[in-house]
Amino acid sequence: VLSLAIVREPAIIFEMKNLLYSKDLTREEIEALMERAKGYLPVAGRGASGGARTKVRDAEGKILATLFYEPSTRTRFSFESAMKRLGGDVISNSHMDYTSSAKKGETLYDTGRVISQMADVIAMRHPEKGSVAELALGAVVPVVNAGDGPGDHPTQGLLDLFTIQQELGRLDNFTIAMVGDLKNGRVPHAECELLRKLHEGKDDAGGVRFVFVAPAALAMPREILAALEAAGHEIVETEDLDAVIGEVDVIADTRIQKERFESEEDYLKYKGVYVITPDVMAQAKEDAILLHPLPRVDEIEVAVDEDPRAKYFQQVENGVAMRMAILAELLGL
Ligand code: NCD
Repeated sequence: VLSLAIVREPAIIFEMKNLLYSKDLTREEIEALMERAKGYLPVAGRGASGGARTKVRDAEGKILATLFYEPSTRTRFSFESAMKRLGGDVISNSHMDYTSSAKKGETLYDTGRVISQMADVIAMRHPEKGSVAELALGAVVPVVNAGDGPGDHPTQGLLDLFTIQQELGRLDNFTIAMVGDLKNGRVPHAECELLRKLHEGKDDAGGVRFVFVAPAALAMPREILAALEAAGHEIVETEDLDAVIGEVDVIADTRIQKERFESEEDYLKYKGVYVITPDVMAQAKEDAILLHPLPRVDEIEVAVDEDPRAKYFQQVENGVAMRMAILAELLGL
């Protein structure tokens, strides 16, 4: 009993300091993270901010552990470059699924507890929904969800909101179309939850309208829609991108999530269902922006990259600044 109490106590203290789910953030926290990310943009970026790409010393002496049980290019590197630009260090395993003690049967709880003895903050990705929260129960340092299966991806959602703010100059009174695999895509899930939390309690829900563009079988989960509706957001669901693209301010495109389908055959039914080409973009508003978390497969043609409304590479840079802000907050810096 005594040893259990010792195990649980620090975990409870740090519970509030994890970033596990988008819906756990308050409006004040979302706004504070945006402000802080803006401050870090000249350190993290070169692009629009004309920054120096340098580093600060805010996290000197601190170590980030990145534990990835599922493929990633950007998200892991983004966390790692964020930590390094904060002046901290990184220990990393990108193949936790087959080179870690998970192979020997270690529980996520124990892994969290053990890594906490060596690192000051943990960023983790895993194919199962809820898995990051499980590791966080054992951890006694802050844990960040870097994607838990089809569940949530709060840091990507935050960097997407940050990009909207940077590019549109506002986070209210706009219409966003989410396009693609809205059932399995954790990124659109995170974006919905964060936009809802950001405008919670306002009479007009911040004037943020949602247009969900997906095949019926890949529609946004009902519980996310119900929460948006209850919060007063206007919602439209359609399968027809052409019918709505001319009316939206933000096009948040995503990949059909191949790895979440039962079979290749099932996936092939939806592969290529929406492809954004220069002709499609010709129908979009002149001041709209096109977002994509990447990787893309075939849903945005390379010819679209030169369109000034395409912001997916700028998003990557903004992501480093946002993750610097997140890590700094979680480390209490
Ligand atoms: C996304 C992810 O992993 O959920 N990628 C990312 O984090 N940049 C989107 C995706 O894989 O489709």
